[in-house]
Amino acid sequence: MYKLLIRPLLFLFDPENVHYFTFTSVRFLNKIPGVSFIFKSLYKVKDKRLETEVFGLKFPNPVGLAAGFDKNAVLYNELSNLGFGFIEIGTVTPKPQDGNPKKRLFRLKEDAAIINRMGFNNAGVDQAILKLKKNKNVLIGGNIGKNKITPNENAVDDYIICFEKLYDFVDYFVVNVSSPNTPNLRELQEKEPLTKLLQVLQDLNSSKQKPKPILLKIAPDLTNEQLLDIIDIVNETKIAGVIATNTTISREGLQSDNKSETGGLSGKPLTNRSTEVIRFLSEKSNKSFPIIGVGGIHSAQDALDKLNAGASLIQLYTGFIYEGPQLVKEINRAILKNR
Ligand code: FNR
Repeated sequence: MYKLLIRPLLFLFDPENVHYFTFTSVRFLNKIPGVSFIFKSLYKVKDKRLETEVFGLKFPNPVGLAAGFDKNAVLYNELSNLGFGFIEIGTVTPKPQDGNPKKRLFRLKEDAAIINRMGFNNAGVDQAILKLKKNKNVLIGGNIGKNKITPNENAVDDYIICFEKLYDFVDYFVVNVSSPNTPNLRELQEKEPLTKLLQVLQDLNSSKQKPKPILLKIAPDLTNEQLLDIIDIVNETKIAGVIATNTTISREGLQSDNKSETGGLSGKPLTNRSTEVIRFLSEKSNKSFPIIGVGGIHSAQDALDKLNAGASLIQLYTGFIYEGPQLVKEINRAILKNR
């Protein structure tokens, strides 16, 4: 139904407008009595064997929605009705910011991909908290970043603000230093600034009565040497794990006319590289920390490949846009078959 009817219609319009239109529609539909029940019965796969315990949290199933979709935490309750085991909100920054000028989101249909240069448009951490107070028992990841106007020397302060403010409202944290759309952000992936940033957050975390898992989200464009550094940093700072991967700046092998747009590329062209990164991290670290696998999952097999490469959980974004909520169900069913 999604691929035959809904997607062809939605794909006629500007991707960012479609995103907001879909949000409003899903929210509206879920307010009609009985509709959320229908969504749940259509898409949720309830089975004890899907429950996955990772970094001390019990996920109802291992298929999550990746960051960037529900940036302001306005739709996570409704999205969880579509079968996701967890939702990652954000990237959230301390102050609200508009992001880059429009147009900044592009569909690459021939490649089953997206290029985005949104630039952390979000309503700010205080707004996110207001929305998170309405949580109806959904497992939430809080993906945090820095404001564009904050120089890298002061980036730590922005992450601390988001960490402190979101602490009571999320189940795990993600430190995002891998978006290509905030100038110089990815420089924070270098060994020294990254170790410092993660250590400061981890120290803060340890001072809490109940520390929460902190994960690091990395780019797929890191070299093997940089990935080995990441393993060292995770082991040294003892953060809970890694999310691999964010979008790529590579444009290898693309067919679509608009392939040269600036921004981060996601979807099918990313599938193999992100699986490769997961496998490398898992093997070279002797599985010493959990990995959330994300990047180009467009089929149940893509998801199984990531789990087999060493991921404990997986997330979708672009595959969800191209394949619809049916994909979440198909992946959960395939995982069950393999358990
Ligand atoms: C993203 N992604 C993203 N990641 C992140 O950590 N913070 C963010 O704010 C965003 N924003 C964002 C916007 C859009 C429009 C897209 C398409 C993606 C990256 C996303 O979470 C994921 O890591 C990549 O898109 C790779 O997965 P898929 O899309 O290939 O399944």
